[in-house]
Amino acid sequence: MNDFLRLAEDIAREAGDMLLAKRPTMSAVVETKSSPTDVVTALDTASEQLIRERIEAARPGDRILGEEGGEAPGESDVRWIVDPIDGTVNFLYGLPEWAVSIAVEVGGRVVAGVVNIPARGEVFTAALGEGAFLGGARLRCNTGVPLAQALVATGFGYGQARRAVQGRVVAGVLPRVRDIRRGGSCAIDLCSLAAGRVDAYYERGINPWDYGAAGLVATESGARLGGLNGRPVSPDFALCAAPGLFEELHDLLVTLDPERDA
Ligand code: IPD
Repeated sequence: MNDFLRLAEDIAREAGDMLLAKRPTMSAVVETKSSPTDVVTALDTASEQLIRERIEAARPGDRILGEEGGEAPGESDVRWIVDPIDGTVNFLYGLPEWAVSIAVEVGGRVVAGVVNIPARGEVFTAALGEGAFLGGARLRCNTGVPLAQALVATGFGYGQARRAVQGRVVAGVLPRVRDIRRGGSCAIDLCSLAAGRVDAYYERGINPWDYGAAGLVATESGARLGGLNGRPVSPDFALCAAPGLFEELHDLLVTLDPERDA
């Protein structure tokens, strides 16, 4: 398992260094994807290509799911889940909250995860059953925080209809918590939770590459990660917090979210 983590960390660091070096000249090259607000820069593509090449060289035959290139077919029960830049809009605007995220799944279970935040010089790592770390320091999420005192991170999708619903849900959450944060990167939100910088995170409609690595960082810090109504985390819904706060926020969200059954 540590071999997976070491390789994922080496590759995430190399991609992060490349992005930091090239961002000043290349970040403005932009295309849109699912909607006019959903952008991909030339460096998202370049970062994913570099990561794919390094994985294929070191682990030929493993499957790779990447945000920009989709999933390459393969027989292996090892799958790499790659977000070449999570927080692309921040990256585009020169904000530091963007990350390279690489998770390794074996038999459908994430066993190693790395979230590199190059502009901050922070690398979060986790291996299943072995804890979550920032640099050499072991991470523990905040515990014992009641909902009314919770700092809650969330995010919004790129589609207009989804955003309209998310706006109504967050309007119902805001009066009941300490405050809301919208950082612009799901991976960083979950790592922030692991480091005690926020208390909880929820979002409807994210992708496995957004939460793959950081989800393991969060759970290895002691947090619970899941969906609504007992479902596991999925592209439909991610909710994460220490036990206790998880249930309190869950029970509020199911009263507010019109898509609670999905
Ligand atoms: C996005 C970020 C954002 C979240 C969106 C994601 P991207 O990923 O994680 O925080 O709210 O749902 O799509 O597009 O920057 O890779």
